[in-house]
Amino acid sequence: MTELERIAMEVRACTLCLLHRGRTRAVPGEGPENAAIVFVGEAPGFHEDQQGRPFVGAAGQFLEELLASIGLRRDQVYITNIVKCRPPQNRDPLPDEIAACSPYLERQLAAIRPKLVVTLGRFSMAHFLPRARISDVHGQPHRVGPWVCYPVYHPAAALHQPSLRRAVEEDFRRIPQVLAEAERVAEYQPPPQAEQLRLF
Ligand code: URA
Ligand code: SF4
Repeated sequence: MTELERIAMEVRACTLCLLHRGRTRAVPGEGPENAAIVFVGEAPGFHEDQQGRPFVGAAGQFLEELLASIGLRRDQVYITNIVKCRPPQNRDPLPDEIAACSPYLERQLAAIRPKLVVTLGRFSMAHFLPRARISDVHGQPHRVGPWVCYPVYHPAAALHQPSLRRAVEEDFRRIPQVLAEAERVAEYQPPPQAEQLRLF
């Protein structure tokens, strides 16, 4: 069993927060083990909870269109959420639910080691950039620990709000360029001598 499969198994059996009581199915996430890009949404909605798969409703349809606009299919990227079980009536996830669930995301990232983490909406953004406002930082790549985090608006919010829709479309269009830059930064390793010099 791969580490991602092990995490998925644990998520499906998880009772670490109260959201486990209302779920039909937990939604661990899906995509290749070696994906260059991980997309992190908010939480499963009705259809996701029914099917146990992320982004399969209206927001998922729009996410697929956004991916297609940069030549990607959903099976070429890893797609997950900051919270793996559906909150009742699709309410916002609570801080204690995010705190209980986010270690699964951390383990997924450690297993995949993506070049780029694209956060969809403010809740997944806040995990990486806790003090940021999405209206200030969307479309700007940030180095956060070992990851390059690229926050964008949530496709569900953007779907019915023309100004957000334009913003998310433009931010997606820059993903190939941001990914190339993230790869270039990751490949640069300071030579051993430079490392030593920095110590003295
Ligand atoms: N919205 C999300 O944030 N995640 C999903 O999986 C579906 C809709
Ligand atoms: Fe466990 Fe996360 Fe589901 Fe809460 S939301 S029960 S922490 S998998």
